[in-house]
Amino acid sequence: MPSDSNTSTETGTSGAQALSGPRHVAIIMDGNGRWAQARGRPRLFGHHAGARRVREVVSCCPQLGVKYLTIFAFSTENWKRTQVEVSGLMSLFRRYISKEMKALAARNVRVRFIGDRLRLDDKLVQLMDDLELETAQNDGTHLTIALNYGGRDEVARATRRLAQDVADGSLLPQDVDEETLPRYLDTHVLPDPDLVIRTSGEARISNFLLWQSAYAEYEFIDTLWPDFTAEELGRLCRRFGGRDRRFGAVAT
Ligand code: FPP
Repeated sequence: MPSDSNTSTETGTSGAQALSGPRHVAIIMDGNGRWAQARGRPRLFGHHAGARRVREVVSCCPQLGVKYLTIFAFSTENWKRTQVEVSGLMSLFRRYISKEMKALAARNVRVRFIGDRLRLDDKLVQLMDDLELETAQNDGTHLTIALNYGGRDEVARATRRLAQDVADGSLLPQDVDEETLPRYLDTHVLPDPDLVIRTSGEARISNFLLWQSAYAEYEFIDTLWPDFTAEELGRLCRRFGGRDRRFGAVAT
């Protein structure tokens, strides 16, 4: 299979047809807290279970023909949670990156982070930088982790840089069009998502990939994130294959 295509045929475990499946899947991983609560456990227990699901979902991407996977790990709004939950999540991210670094690199996964790193602690940022560097030559699944990410914040940061280029004279206002702004977004090297999935029964997009998802297909499913499986992703990818995507044109 060419390294940058989704032309694989049948998958292994899930049996999904990758031929017309989504090339870029983005996931809002919701429901960890409710999953833990249902078991009488603290919310962080749910986040740890959620992290194990990330591992499984990343592993099944090649079989499904999903070349790009983008996951929402922590939003610019999540700082409003209790200090215990926020610091527990930050320590989970540090542990996940340190522990998974070798496995991801060995599985040919290329990892990138999007979001504003300025508010994250130095140790975490160092680990993120190391993981990006360590996997920079990989050409398998492109895993993008949104950490301290908000779509509006991303557009605001992009606009600030764009405005600076106009002020410097390297960009003319009349040359700014809808191809220009995406070059300043955190996702500038990624294709737009084809399919956005949100788990846990909530039907909202919560500031995730606002610009990039203009023509994405959406799936809002009831499963809580720690119960999400490779099989379910396979089913959603197959369903995506049956969608009629017209991008504003009419069916021919
Ligand atoms: C939303 O569930 C989930 C989060 C805010 C955190 C997502 C983090 C993980 C899945 C952990 C692992 C991620 C990586 C990259 C290692 P919620 O807490 O809002 O659930 P609730 O709606 O049931 O309260």
